[in-house]
Amino acid sequence: MNISVIYYTKLGHSKKIAQAIANELGVKAQDIRENPEIKDVDLLYIVSGIYGGKSAPELLEFLETLDGQVIKRAYLLTSSCGKTTRAAEVRAVLTEFGIPVAEKEFTCQGAFFFFGMRHPNKVDIQNAVHFVQSVSQ
Ligand SMILES: Cc1cc2nc3c(=O)[nH]c(=O)nc-3n(C[C@H](O)[C@H](O)[C@H](O)COP(=O)(O)O)c2cc1C
Repeated sequence: MNISVIYYTKLGHSKKIAQAIANELGVKAQDIRENPEIKDVDLLYIVSGIYGGKSAPELLEFLETLDGQVIKRAYLLTSSCGKTTRAAEVRAVLTEFGIPVAEKEFTCQGAFFFFGMRHPNKVDIQNAVHFVQSVSQ
């Protein structure tokens, strides 16, 4: 099974989560700013944060370049101060481009200034790994 893990990060949280799940899946986490090639992927994990209530435009633009024909299913993992904020725009773009997105998403606490300090923490990262274990079977 071909698995890819990609992330967009401003503060490093998504990179941390992406690296932990990529490690679990035996692949390398790829930064979308490095324009990774996504080809023939069974499972695509997309890790990101929420900024000003939205997903990062750079991430959405990158996703618009993907070929819906070569990606069987996407899973979304999001950290935010909101803790349970889902990546609605990411889902919308993928759906528009014909990429099936699993209903089940992973969300956890992120941090910004004094909000959610020290998150995502060890437990958040472990929970992300458990999420991936539960959906990858
Ligand atoms: C510029 C900026 C704006 C943010 N705006 C929001 C927001 O509107 N709502 C929210 O829940 N979290 C917000 N956050 C918190 C981030 O979503 C959270 O820290 C997330 O873990 C960041 O992931 P990253 O380090 O991978 O970019 C913001 C963070 C930054 C840096």
